[in-house]
Amino acid sequence: MKQTRLGKTDMYVNPVGLGCMGFSHASGTPMPKDEAIAVLREAYQIGYNFYDTAQCYTGINPDGSINYNEELVGEAIKPFRNQIILCTKFGVTHKGDHLEFDSSPEKIRQSVEESLQKLDTDYIDLYYQHRIDPKVEPEVVAGVMKELIEEGKIKAWGISETTEEYLRRAHAVCPVTAIENRYSMMARWHEPIFKVCEELGITYVAFSPMANGALTGAYQSKADFGNGDQDFRPDMPQYSEEGMKKTRKLLDIIEKYAKEKNATNAQISLAWMMCKKDYIIPIPGSRKVSRLKENFDAGQVILTKEEVKALDDQLDTMDFLVFGGH
Ligand SMILES: NC(=O)c1ccc[n+]([C@@H]2O[C@H](COP(=O)([O-])OP(=O)(O)OC[C@H]3O[C@@H](n4cnc5c(N)ncnc54)[C@H](OP(=O)(O)O)[C@@H]3O)[C@@H](O)[C@H]2O)c1
Repeated sequence: MKQTRLGKTDMYVNPVGLGCMGFSHASGTPMPKDEAIAVLREAYQIGYNFYDTAQCYTGINPDGSINYNEELVGEAIKPFRNQIILCTKFGVTHKGDHLEFDSSPEKIRQSVEESLQKLDTDYIDLYYQHRIDPKVEPEVVAGVMKELIEEGKIKAWGISETTEEYLRRAHAVCPVTAIENRYSMMARWHEPIFKVCEELGITYVAFSPMANGALTGAYQSKADFGNGDQDFRPDMPQYSEEGMKKTRKLLDIIEKYAKEKNATNAQISLAWMMCKKDYIIPIPGSRKVSRLKENFDAGQVILTKEEVKALDDQLDTMDFLVFGGH
């Protein structure tokens, strides 16, 4: 299988990565620990070797205890820790219904120790700043990353939801290996940053690559999410009545390609970005083994440059309601 190089490092991963967030956070009541660990281990058997978590991916278990996604992932990957690339993130805290950002050097230092402990590992392969903290200059954050690399605590670093200017300034101090920004057929506003990735040799890790499931066509209404009040999906604009109507037009197009390629909607939506740029790695998430396999196999679905362009041309004429949109 073709491997994708992470930035200019000697780390290579399979074309589709694994978003681990949903086992603990934003997809309803956390999955029971043993079941989640079994699925995360099965993912490795399927071929996933690029695991994405974050310090702030937490949920509340039915007994009231906190479910730490890092702890879950750390335990799951123990038998194959050195065979996978492990990513986590710092700098975001969930406070009620909003996020707080802190990328001060002191906070980063504290966070990296906490993450290493929760993940039960000696090193993090790829450490992302989860969100830009307007109080801290990129040069300061990059300076701390340089130190952490020298100390062997992290192997490489990246930035999530970065802008071009922030990326360039940070990269000048300590080379950035990857950015992790939202990207899907319904969320294309970061495309202007592709040229910077190409110029600087930076990987684009695409989060929420299926628009939180909307591009799969699996959800017909909000009622399809019945997993308790920790599920963020029912409140997302793509699942409003108007949002679903707008997405429907795109699903008709995706379904046509799916039929032609003997693939599923999920696979077409992932193949579209992988066939567009060879440095884009989608990290879809699912709690279900069958879907993890389906998503991983999207790496085998080929869309020609002409087909990708034809899809882009149609997307240019459409508008969507999507979480994170602006
Ligand atoms: N850096 C950041 O700020 C950031 C933000 C958000 C997410 N992320 C990362 O990106 C990862 C993925 O993002 P995401 O979970 O927001 O969105 P996503 O991968 O676009 O969609 C996940 C949703 O789609 C469903 N799904 C997955 N595969 C499917 C399939 N083949 N057919 C039908 N439904 C399917 C999942 O439900 P089931 O579980 O029921 O299958 C889940 O509801 C996260 O796990 C996280 O690691 C990063």
